[in-house]
Amino acid sequence: KSLKSFNTFSMNVQASHFVTVSDREEVRASLQWATGKGLPSFILGGGSNILFTKDVDGLVIQNSIKGIEKVYEDEEYVHLKVGGGEAWHRFVLYCLDHNYAGVENLALIPGLAGASPMQNIGAYGVEIKEVFHELTAIHRATLEEVQFSNKDCEFGYRESVFKHRYKDQFVITDVTYKLSKKPVFKVEYGAIKQELEKAAVQDLSIQAIANAVIAIRSSKLPDPKDIGNAGSFFKNPSVSKEQFEILKLMFPEIVAYENPDHTMKLAAGWLIEQAGLKGFRKGDAGVHARQALVLVNYGNASGAEILETCSLVQDAVYERFGVELAPEVNIV
Ligand code: EPU
Repeated sequence: KSLKSFNTFSMNVQASHFVTVSDREEVRASLQWATGKGLPSFILGGGSNILFTKDVDGLVIQNSIKGIEKVYEDEEYVHLKVGGGEAWHRFVLYCLDHNYAGVENLALIPGLAGASPMQNIGAYGVEIKEVFHELTAIHRATLEEVQFSNKDCEFGYRESVFKHRYKDQFVITDVTYKLSKKPVFKVEYGAIKQELEKAAVQDLSIQAIANAVIAIRSSKLPDPKDIGNAGSFFKNPSVSKEQFEILKLMFPEIVAYENPDHTMKLAAGWLIEQAGLKGFRKGDAGVHARQALVLVNYGNASGAEILETCSLVQDAVYERFGVELAPEVNIV
């Protein structure tokens, strides 16, 4: 089966076996079937943070576990248990509809709820760890159900245990989020402030913030329906204060933010743009013209061609700034 319509980079790779699962029993049965056949299994969510570079010889299990259920409520908070296969943005819309606050800054992020803890998705001043309560996962070898609390996930910038210690070991079947009934608006991110001013918003609301985020994302990030991509291809790199001071002397315009541990996070998009690669294109692979952190497939680029562009960007940024860029996308 072709996976082209199952990954936002639109890579035309084949899976030897493919199944869609809609509950935990089907997850277990599929894992068992693959083990019985001696095939590796591969869990696919929305396919929005992945670059396939080759065919998959094994069972691709597509998570389609649905449902949004209120499991707890008090004066201030509600806990919503969301099926791992629910589209993330559909969940955001549900929260906006019910006036539950916490995820409005994360509107329009592609992908599924079940993938949100994997890399601690984040945008415009908010990360999923701020609203994450717990998740249920099935261990791929023992088929046991395991709960992970917020602490258990060891969230970091685009990081969690599921990318390291427990890589490829669990299928996330549902995630419980803690939303606020009394909103605290997060509008410190410069682009949000500007957008709210532009829209002349008088009364701040979670809907107004979501609208601003949707407007910003739509103006900068390419829609995978038109141009294949997986959002930011690289992580924003962090450097020591000392290294930053030197860079700042050489490049006074450099864009950076201070991390809680006082290291400095550099805007990789700025570094790539300054290295002269914004809008670069070779064949069907390229660097997006409106946000240099995004690599794009204009049509029929192969995974190898995207990786070639990735190396070109890494080399150019290293040569100019002495800074290494690490991919944020999962390369398979
Ligand atoms: N910039 C440039 N040139 C560019 C792109 C950016 O100079 O081509 C500068 C901008 O002017 C701005 C700064 O870099 O001053 C930051 O840009 P932006 O607000 O677009 O955010 P980002 O750091 O490039 C990160 C996330 C995005 C997230 C936005 C908003 C990562 C790897 N990416 O991008 O997440 O939407 O912040 O919070 O942290 C994703 O992970 O796929 C993703 C899209």
